[in-house]
Amino acid sequence: MPSRDDRSPGDDRSPGRNRPGDDELPPGPDGLPVVGNTHQFLRAGPYEFYDRLATYGDVVGYRVAWRDFCTVLHPDYVEQVLVEEADSFERFFFDEIGFEFAPEGLLMSSGEQWRRQRTLIQPAFRPDRIASYADSMAEYAERTVEGWTDGEEIALNREFSQLALEILARSLFDLDVRAGGGAEAVTRAARALDERADSRSPGAFLPDWVPTPANRRYRRSMEQFRETVDGLIERRRRAPGEYDDLLAILLDAEDESGRTMSDEEVRDQMITFLFAGHETTSLALTYAFLLLAQHDQVREKLDAEHERVLGGAAPTLADLDDLEYTETVIDEAMRLYPPAYVMFREALEDVEIGGYRVPEGTVVTLPQFRLHVDERFYDDPERFRPERWTDEFEEQLPEYAYFPFGGGPRHCIGMRFAMLELKTVLPTIAQRVDFELLSDPDPDLGAGITLQPDEDVRMRVSKR
Ligand code: HEM
Repeated sequence: MPSRDDRSPGDDRSPGRNRPGDDELPPGPDGLPVVGNTHQFLRAGPYEFYDRLATYGDVVGYRVAWRDFCTVLHPDYVEQVLVEEADSFERFFFDEIGFEFAPEGLLMSSGEQWRRQRTLIQPAFRPDRIASYADSMAEYAERTVEGWTDGEEIALNREFSQLALEILARSLFDLDVRAGGGAEAVTRAARALDERADSRSPGAFLPDWVPTPANRRYRRSMEQFRETVDGLIERRRRAPGEYDDLLAILLDAEDESGRTMSDEEVRDQMITFLFAGHETTSLALTYAFLLLAQHDQVREKLDAEHERVLGGAAPTLADLDDLEYTETVIDEAMRLYPPAYVMFREALEDVEIGGYRVPEGTVVTLPQFRLHVDERFYDDPERFRPERWTDEFEEQLPEYAYFPFGGGPRHCIGMRFAMLELKTVLPTIAQRVDFELLSDPDPDLGAGITLQPDEDVRMRVSKR
């Protein structure tokens, strides 16, 4: 593979074909072994595939099945797509997956509907609003630790998946998933959504309407979830002002003309948040502890910060700004293991990227997991080194060399919520437990919608 540091944006490694200005896709591989089969493409593993793409430059064209794709591997082009020319692109979902989980929700809506919804929902994620969830985040993290016995072996990814769900259910619906009362439907729906989006499960990549047992289970779970949320909506309508969860806030949200979202829209937002906010956050926690278990010096420095700022107590809102090293640990973990590891956009018109014409209809991919380890921007990019995140480093780093939460108008609306959760849960758990890693330190990663480890991340719990 050619060295990456001697290349400039748009450098064409394949002179003679697809030169700037041509009608074809930007240069890229011909005759990929995966052509014509999207399932295999997704299962082949993203790392190998993108390594191969990167040999062609920073704007790489290829075809998978009947679709034209274009990958951009330079932060300037990521910025162009997400920010500068955001209106020329739309979020892309693989139609053939048929994963229409919440058509009226923020992830899947577009155009005017999306704009209206985003304006209505944004205030619900303001710092002062989400701050009220911090206590329950710490409380649930403590409860999770209490559930572990000293010396026990746990699957960390599963434990954090459960914890992230408990936190979401409390924040979205004021439900305790351990206590029942409608919460079973939330758990089942979250599991069904995860299974649906996970390339390792048998139901993934088959359209919803194919009557496989997994699809039937999925449809049944989503049906029950919708009924449950309808019940919760009704309760909030009967007792306005009694709830401070996101559901209540969204039901009340009005635009300038006094219009609110329909119940269906609000319901689809709940499905969207359950999907977008669950595995992402849980994976960020899993990978942070996976890395910490292998880097004693980082762990010691983290412990020292926790001792100094928290002295054994769970963090409160007032502590969060002082947990600077904790934040760099989280940032560095999401650099190496971005939970949302690649984003997709469809070009709504012909656009030019790096001197190449990218035709209307092309699917542009923006792979965080590649840009985050580009040696043009990161020294020793594969190394876990939270210390790299100094102010000076951040100042000179191109903005879109690091974008775990996306960017531009459609950046993650739950970013502050997620960071609050990560900065609250990580110290709460780290202060009480040491983990000994029992599984592969460098697990294979699967190409689902999020970056999942192929095997459970297993740890032995040692209580402090
Ligand atoms: C570490 C945790 C998280 C990560 C890494 C993450 C990452 C992302 C990324 C990369 C996007 C942009 C996708 C794109 O533009 O194609 C996104 C969008 C979104 N995220 Fe997150 N997310 C996280 C947590 C959350 C949480 C906790 C919630 C809600 C409670 C949430 C809700 C959403 C929604 C609704 C969108 C779509 C926004 C829009 O289109 O306007 N996310 N997220």
